Amino acid sequence: MLIVANWKAYVEDLPKAKGLVAATRRAASRSKATVVIAPPPPLLGALAIGNRSRLAFAAQDISRTTGGAQTGESTARACMAAGAAYAIIGHSERRAAGDTNGIVAEKLGHALAQGLIPILCVGEKERDPAGRYLAFVREELRAALEDIAQKDRTKVIVAYEPIWAIGKHAKDAIGPHDLAEMVLYIKKVLAELLPGNSSARAQVLYGGSVEPEDARSLTAASGIDGVLVGHASADSRQFASIIKELS
Ligand code: PGA
Repeated sequence: MLIVANWKAYVEDLPKAKGLVAATRRAASRSKATVVIAPPPPLLGALAIGNRSRLAFAAQDISRTTGGAQTGESTARACMAAGAAYAIIGHSERRAAGDTNGIVAEKLGHALAQGLIPILCVGEKERDPAGRYLAFVREELRAALEDIAQKDRTKVIVAYEPIWAIGKHAKDAIGPHDLAEMVLYIKKVLAELLPGNSSARAQVLYGGSVEPEDARSLTAASGIDGVLVGHASADSRQFASIIKELS
């Protein structure tokens, strides 16, 4: 089980960040899950450099550039140097700020080139009765992966994050049945995009209003390999109980 904490911009000072890391470390030490924290970029290095615990760190995003005269950019290489092992790519909040499928594909390539494990976010804005959201998710996966070398495609973790379920509460998250269906669909699309039968090992996460109340029901029979937690990960008690629920 992979549990990713996406702090977004909920955490803005170092004492709070350090307190959250310590609480998360304690919860993670009682669990078999792999726990990854994605702090805001200015805090990443201070928390992750020299980290020897079994927590891992992620960049919330990386730049589409690879260095040079690019004021304000956090390149994949700089994120790696700051202690990240993973990078969230294509989060809907970055897509809303301008990341097209093409930019997401570029970022994915940069992450892989630097040895960061990409967590590729996909997910529809809404569910239409005709089921067009399935084609939308398929297209996000295809566009992100088609220019990536076959052997690198197997390193990508997919996070299914339906936009309509993000930033709400447990009762608004997707139902376990619909989630199971989507996981099967994503695995089917990955079977077409990944070499041989490597898609059988592909990891698929779910994100969107994961809270202590729904963490277990979402993961119990849906076939997901983990969760990407937003607001509840910036609350030490809530996040510790999610880790406990999933242990
Ligand atoms: P949420 O965010 O848990 O606050 O819904 C999830 C995400 O956007 O990654």
